[in-house]
Amino acid sequence: MKDQNFLKENNARQLWHPMGHPGEAQSAPPKIITGAEGVNITDIDGHKTVDAVGGLWCVNLGYSNTKVKEAISSQLHELPYYSAFAGTSNPTAIEAAYTVQEFFAEDGIERVFFTSGGSDSVETVLRLARQYHRIRGEATRTKFLSLKKGYHGTHFGGASVNGNNRFRINYEPLLPGCHHLPAPNTYRNPYNETDPAQLAQLIAQAMEDEIQFQDPSTIAAFIMEPILGAGGVIVPHETFMPLMREICDRYGILLIADEVITGFGRTGDRSGARHWGVKPDMMSTAKGITSGYFPVGAALISGKVAEVFENSDAARGGIYHGYTYSAHPVGAAAVTACLQETLRLDLKTNAAARGTQLFEGVQKLAQKHDIIGDVRGGHGLMTGIELVSDKAAKTPMDNDTMKKIHQTAYEAGAMVRLGAHNILMSPPLTISEAEIDTVLSALDTGFSAV
Ligand SMILES: Cc1ncc(COP(=O)(O)O)c(C=O)c1O
Repeated sequence: MKDQNFLKENNARQLWHPMGHPGEAQSAPPKIITGAEGVNITDIDGHKTVDAVGGLWCVNLGYSNTKVKEAISSQLHELPYYSAFAGTSNPTAIEAAYTVQEFFAEDGIERVFFTSGGSDSVETVLRLARQYHRIRGEATRTKFLSLKKGYHGTHFGGASVNGNNRFRINYEPLLPGCHHLPAPNTYRNPYNETDPAQLAQLIAQAMEDEIQFQDPSTIAAFIMEPILGAGGVIVPHETFMPLMREICDRYGILLIADEVITGFGRTGDRSGARHWGVKPDMMSTAKGITSGYFPVGAALISGKVAEVFENSDAARGGIYHGYTYSAHPVGAAAVTACLQETLRLDLKTNAAARGTQLFEGVQKLAQKHDIIGDVRGGHGLMTGIELVSDKAAKTPMDNDTMKKIHQTAYEAGAMVRLGAHNILMSPPLTISEAEIDTVLSALDTGFSAV
C-alpha cells in the first residue's frame, strides 16, 4: 500500500465519487477511512469515531464479524466465481437462496433472484412486475406508482420511480409512465396535515384518484420503502402500508416493498413490511444481506408471482434478465453466514431497543436546540433529524452550517450522514447503549457549534 502522503495527494484525483461534485471533492477531499472495529471507524490521521451511518445503512453486524469474513475467504479458495446463467449453479448460491427464503418465509416470499446490489434488485422487481402482467395477458400494465421522497437507487428504472428530484433532473428523460404520490411526512406535505393517520387517508385517496386517472389496467406496480430512508427517515403511520396493500389488491396492482434498508432487522423486525403487518408481492433487498462485506442484492418473489412465472410457457415466462455476478459463489457464502449471524445475535431486538434510545435522545436534544425542526424514527435503528434556520418558517438549514455540524460531531466522536438538510443515522445493529450515548453527545456538540 502506498504511503499516507501519496494517498492524501491523490485523494479524489483519479477517483470520482458517487453522489457528489467531482471538482468539490478535489478542493475538499473526502475523509480517508483506513480501518474499522466493532462499530468504530478510524481515519488516515488515526481519529476514531462511532460510525452512526453503518457504512451506508448496511454494516448491520458491525465491522468485526469473523464468521462472515471467514466464509468469504474460504469460498474464495474453493470457487471464486462461476456463472449462474442457465445451465450452471454453485453450492453456496443454492444454500444462500434457501436461507434467504426461510428468513422471509413469513412475509410470503418463496423465490430468490440474486443481484449485485440494491439498484439491481429494484430494476429486477420492476421488470418482473411488467412481465408478470404480460404472462397473465395484461400487457397494458406497464406503469409504476411510487412515493415522493422515496429512494430506489440510480438505474433508469429506479431513478424513474425515485421521489427526490436531486437524483432525477440531470438524467432526464426518465422512464415514461412513472407517477408519484405525496410522501407520508407530517412535517411537510401538500395538505398541511400533521395527523399521521389522516395523512395516510389523504394519500390513499390521492392514490385511488391517480389510479382512476391513469386507468387501473395500465398500472403494473406500486413500490415503496416501508420506512423511507434516504429521503429523510420518513416513518408512515402504521395504517399506511396496509392501506396501500388494500388498494393494490383492489386494482390488481403488485405491491413492491423496497427493503434495501429496512430488510434484515433494521426496523426491529425481519422486514419493514412485516413491521407494518403487510405481505408484499415482491421485495428488493441488498445491504444487510451481507452486512456490506460483499456486494450482493436480491429480488424476492412471493408465491403468487412465482406461480405465474413457473406455470407459464417458455416464451413468456423466461427471465431474460440477470447479472454476471447474480448468485456469485463468494457473495452467496457471505449471505448465508451473514443471515446466520443476524439470527444468532438477534440483531432486530437490539435494533429496536437502541433505536428507541437514539430516537428519544434526539428528541431531548430537540428541546435544547432550536435548529432541530423535526425528529423522525422510533422504529428501529433509523433516525432522521431535519434542521432548519427558522423554526416557524421551516426554512431548510444551509449547506455550510450542515457541514460545520457534521465536522464538529465527527471530531466529537460520531460519523453521521447528511442528506440535504437532514442528518441521517443508521448505525450497526450491534451498537451498545454506551455507543449510542457517544453519538448523542457528539451531536449535542455539533448543534452547539452553530
Ligand atoms: C431503499 C433503497 N433502494 C435502493 C437502493 C440502491 O441500492 P444500491 O446503492 O446498492 O444500488 C438504496 C440505497 O441506499 C436504498 O436505500
